[in-house]
Amino acid sequence: MKFFSLLAGAAAFASTAVAQYTNSTQTGGIDQVTIFTPPSNYTIPRTLYARTLLLNQDCEEDNVILATWENYLYNNNSNPYFPIYQSYDGGHTWSERSRVYDQVNGWGLRYQPFLYELSEPIGNFSAGTILLAGNSIPQDLSETQLELYASTDKGYTWKFVSHVAHGGEALPNNGLTPVWEPFLMTYNNSLIYYYSDQRDPRYGQKLVHQISSDLLTWGPVVDDVAYDTYDFRPGMAIVSALPFGQYIMTYEFYGAKEVDFAVYYRISTDPTNFNASVGYPLVATDGSVPYGSPYNVWTPVGGALGTIVVSCGNLEEVYLNHNLGAPGAWTKINTVEPASYSRSLLVLPGQEEILIAGGGVLGGEHNSVTVSSVDVVPKAPAFARCDARK
Ligand SMILES: *[C@@H]1O[C@H](CO)[C@@H](O)[C@H](O)[C@H]1NC(C)=O
Ligand SMILES: *[C@@H]1O[C@H](CO)[C@@H](O)[C@H](O)[C@H]1NC(C)=O
Ligand SMILES: *[C@@H]1O[C@H](CO)[C@@H](O)[C@H](O)[C@H]1NC(C)=O
Ligand SMILES: *[C@@H]1O[C@H](CO)[C@@H](O)[C@H](O)[C@H]1NC(C)=O
Ligand SMILES: *[C@@H]1O[C@H](CO)[C@@H](O)[C@H](O)[C@H]1NC(C)=O
Ligand SMILES: *[C@@H]1O[C@H](CO)[C@@H](O)[C@H](O)[C@H]1NC(C)=O
Repeated sequence: MKFFSLLAGAAAFASTAVAQYTNSTQTGGIDQVTIFTPPSNYTIPRTLYARTLLLNQDCEEDNVILATWENYLYNNNSNPYFPIYQSYDGGHTWSERSRVYDQVNGWGLRYQPFLYELSEPIGNFSAGTILLAGNSIPQDLSETQLELYASTDKGYTWKFVSHVAHGGEALPNNGLTPVWEPFLMTYNNSLIYYYSDQRDPRYGQKLVHQISSDLLTWGPVVDDVAYDTYDFRPGMAIVSALPFGQYIMTYEFYGAKEVDFAVYYRISTDPTNFNASVGYPLVATDGSVPYGSPYNVWTPVGGALGTIVVSCGNLEEVYLNHNLGAPGAWTKINTVEPASYSRSLLVLPGQEEILIAGGGVLGGEHNSVTVSSVDVVPKAPAFARCDARK
């Protein structure tokens, strides 16, 4: 409980450093809107690991938001699928668009979905193709298979594209060989498929990627974060492009000296070689260190260098950095979205509001899928009473 003693020392001066941020209640934003409430007979935890995508490559569907999550069905004999929900009003209301079923393994699409829209053509897939990465796992959890599916009609129908990485039993124990937690990003006319990998006997777990220029065939497994101590487990890589050709990768780091699963990050001009960069712990100006299942986005607003926003697994708050990830420049702001296991972030069209999606907590008996927004730009105080007298 190193974490709590570390926090206690910093709590006294934390409130003095808080800027004038508005929250969703004040801006008419999204305040814990429910996307999906699972039936009570769903298998606990019922939902987890929510992901969202803002469509922006097709006039008809621009600004539609899609959402998906891990969906623990009640019928243990049927294979799970990833639901695709849609919002046409910026996240205020939601309905089902489609379901992505396992088309090849007979196992279901069980864990860790991720949605992505191609902004440039890759191979025979045009810009605007929606990609879904995820972990196909049989009911006995004996294997893990990271997959790629694609939709050429904005997420209404889906087709299997390719297998990316195959691993062993789906348990996070050292010595087992699963693969986990895919994340996609285009770079250099190719797609980078990042994931967590327990197959290398030298590492309990490491972060890796594979690259494809046609989405069908995949290059070799390349290390992104691998620590020399076997028991150390970097996990859950998320990457965003920053100004000046830089990229940030956040990850959780079991083995960190600050706290188990401390949020760490690396900056690189080459998103295929984070292994050459230094890993920094995210330590905020109030002394807090977030931990568990981080997510990050960059938005161009909030300062000359824009704002990096980082979420974690243990807090409602998000962390901001207006200086391209400089250590010592992280501050913390409130949100109205509860902590979840692996919340995700999405920059909304105005670019000041970030949509936070949560699917609940590990083992949760009351999980549902919710979204809230947080405005990351400080607002001048509104002198409403003075204006009214003029
Ligand atoms: C679970 O609940 C849903 C909705 O309440 C119901 O339609 C369904 O039949 C139930 N399934 C089982 C297996 O009990
Ligand atoms: C489904 O299977 C899991 C693991 O096999 C078990 O823990 C759970 O209770 C089952 N759920 C239902 C509704 O039968
Ligand atoms: C792309 O499409 C063309 C024309 O249909 C076809 O000849 C080619 O084999 C396709 N390439 C791949 C990688 O599927
Ligand atoms: C881009 O990809 C090509 C091959 O497709 C490779 O030769 C080149 O080195 C790559 N450039 C960078 C900056 O990674
Ligand atoms: C990645 O970094 C680790 C730690 O610095 C190092 O031991 C390892 O050799 C590197 N891997 C590659 C492929 O460069
Ligand atoms: C959001 O703003 C409202 C109205 O000013 C306030 O009552 C509420 O406590 C704020 N919530 C958070 C999480 O800061």
